[in-house]
Amino acid sequence: MGDDRRNQWESRHAGADDLGSVAAVLTRNAHLLQGPGRALDLACGRGANTLWLAGQGYHVSAWDYAATALERLRRAADRQGLQVDTALRDITVEPPGPDTFDLILVSHFLERTLCPAILAALRPGGVLCYQTFSQDSPAGLGPANPAFRLAPNELLHLFPGLRLRYYREEGELGDCSRGERGLAMMIAQRVTA
Ligand SMILES: C[S@@+](CC[C@H](N)C(=O)[O-])C[C@H]1O[C@@H](n2cnc3c(N)ncnc32)[C@H](O)[C@@H]1O
Repeated sequence: MGDDRRNQWESRHAGADDLGSVAAVLTRNAHLLQGPGRALDLACGRGANTLWLAGQGYHVSAWDYAATALERLRRAADRQGLQVDTALRDITVEPPGPDTFDLILVSHFLERTLCPAILAALRPGGVLCYQTFSQDSPAGLGPANPAFRLAPNELLHLFPGLRLRYYREEGELGDCSRGERGLAMMIAQRVTA
């Protein structure tokens, strides 16, 4: 099962014609995210977010288990003259170690068993930027399996003890042709040592 999913990701990355898009949780909040520092783009894919974070002055580690994605990211980084550290890594087997990063980005990836390791991997003062699909969503957005989408308010509770700096989860309220639908976004900070 694990290898099947990884192979599916390899094919998807090989067939994609761009690097993906930069997560709105980053672009909307660039003023909160001023490097330098060590950043981790967890399950980075082809790395649009990695490159954006490197452009903000972070020293970025980009981890994914799809070799195709990392190869595309490395080529794009070379073209742009940006330094990034890629690692081919199954993050469920090798999660980040404690007190390692000043910023951790998780974009469009949800593995709940990893949340304690992600929380512990933040350095004091470090920020977690998280954006992924929510269950309260107009049809057609995100993975079909609801287990891979966040329940209402779930992101607020997955990382206890962090100080909330930004949160957005619009669901299906009001005019669904506007806004950022089908997503939950959070920036939260580790405020104690
Ligand atoms: C939906 S993509 C998101 C990519 C990127 N974060 C973005 O927002 O564009 C999910 C990524 O997670 C990676 N992934 C899934 N399970 C993984 C695991 N156990 N270890 C490392 N990477 C994994 C896949 O290879 C894929 O690149």
